[in-house]
Amino acid sequence: MKNTLLALAPEYRGYNIVVKNKIEDLTEPFERNDLIVLDGVTIPGFPYEYWMDTIPTYFTKNNRWEPPMFAHEVLKEEWSERHRLFRDLDLDEEHTTTFRKMHRRTHQAWLSFQKQLFPNYEGNNEVLSHRYNTLVYNRQHLDLLDGDHTGTEHQLRMSMNLSHKPRTLTVGEHINHLFNRVEDKVRYKDMNIHDFIFELRNEVIWNGENDYAGLPVTFATFPPKSIWIFNSNVMNHSVVWGEKCQMWEMDIYLKTMTSTSNTIPTLVRELQANI
Ligand SMILES: [Fe+2]
Repeated sequence: MKNTLLALAPEYRGYNIVVKNKIEDLTEPFERNDLIVLDGVTIPGFPYEYWMDTIPTYFTKNNRWEPPMFAHEVLKEEWSERHRLFRDLDLDEEHTTTFRKMHRRTHQAWLSFQKQLFPNYEGNNEVLSHRYNTLVYNRQHLDLLDGDHTGTEHQLRMSMNLSHKPRTLTVGEHINHLFNRVEDKVRYKDMNIHDFIFELRNEVIWNGENDYAGLPVTFATFPPKSIWIFNSNVMNHSVVWGEKCQMWEMDIYLKTMTSTSNTIPTLVRELQANI
């Protein structure tokens, strides 16, 4: 990796950071919840130039986070001057047609690439999303599981930096480490996994007093075109700075995984069993 890592030793984080320079089976590091960075790896058939050079980045007020643009919005919502493709990216109807074509082509490229990295996984809800506004410092957080994720599937998320500048992320401690810092553990004993992650986040990293500057974090930079994969429910994280990126997500059926011992439901159950 061209860029440097200001890193805590892995024992203080609770997971590994691994860098790969070629396409290979990533099942093992992924199922261990490692932070995986693919650098110098090209996705076959991926229209890099279109996303990197034709599509602009844009800014939101106070650099506020915006919901990503998902396939439904890109493909199904009729073009108008209120459509985000026009409002944010300045695409007229004709250029919107090109964007839609590129979306479909890119979806296929991600799908084949995912099969190369994770040949045994089967699942559903494969989705490509676009995030093209410049982000400046969103707070350290754990992503919360939505209602669709109750443990019958395991989420795979891959992101790619489509800017010509590196993206910087801070990654904090594994939830097992975070839970060590909880004072009153008993109240967590019978919580469902959603409440568990929500309460843990609020208590240890998101309470209005703590900030990433006061938490043990590792700074990771992702060069242009690099891809990173991590479990955002397990390791807390924050974007320090970044321009355009795409995300590819999929829900993996647990029965197609080699090991489920590091999925969120299993991790939470183990922490609760030890209270
Ligand atoms: Fe997040």
